[in-house]
Amino acid sequence: MPLLKLLHLMALICWCGALLYLPALIAAGTRRSDTLFYRDHGHLTRLVFTLIATPAALLAIGSGTALFLRDSIFDAWLIFKLTAVAGMVLCHALCGVLVLRIERTPERTVGRECVLIGVALVALIAVTLWLVLAKPYG
Ligand code: HEM
Repeated sequence: MPLLKLLHLMALICWCGALLYLPALIAAGTRRSDTLFYRDHGHLTRLVFTLIATPAALLAIGSGTALFLRDSIFDAWLIFKLTAVAGMVLCHALCGVLVLRIERTPERTVGRECVLIGVALVALIAVTLWLVLAKPYG
C-alpha cells in the first residue's frame, strides 16, 4: 500500500477513535462531585483532545488533501466526502467547546450534548467510509 494512503488510514483511525471516545469521556467528567476527580479528569480529557484527537485530525486532513492533489482526484464522491468530513470537524470543535465547559463549570451536566455529538459522529464516520469505499457517486 502506498505510504501516503497508509499514513491517511493510520491518522483517520486515531482521529475517528478519539472522536468516538471523547463525548463519553467528557460526559463522565461531570458526574462525580469530588474536586480532585474533576481536576484530573478534566486534565485527561484535555490531553486526549489536544495530544491525540487534534494532531490526528490535522494529519488525516493533510494526508487526504495530499492524496487528492497528487492523484488529481476531483470526483463527486470526494465532494460528498469532504462535506461529511466538514461535519466531523464541526463535531471535533464542539468537543473542544465541551472540554472547556467541563473545566470551567464541572458541576454542569453535558450528557445530552455528548449523546447528540456521539450519534452525529457515528453517522458522519459511517457515511464518510461508505462514500470512500463504495464510491456510489462515481
Ligand atoms: C479533508 C479530509 C480528507 C480528504 C481530502 C481525503 C481524501 C482522500 C483521498 C483523495 C483518498 C484516495 C482515494 C482513492 O485512491 O481512491 C482517500 C482515501 C481514503 N479515505 Fe480519505 N480523505 C479525508 C478524510 C477522511 C476521513 C475523515 C475518513 C474516514 C472517516 C477517510 C477515509 C478514507 C479511506 C478508508 C480511504 C481508502 C479508500 C481506498 O483505498 O479505497 N478519509 N481519502
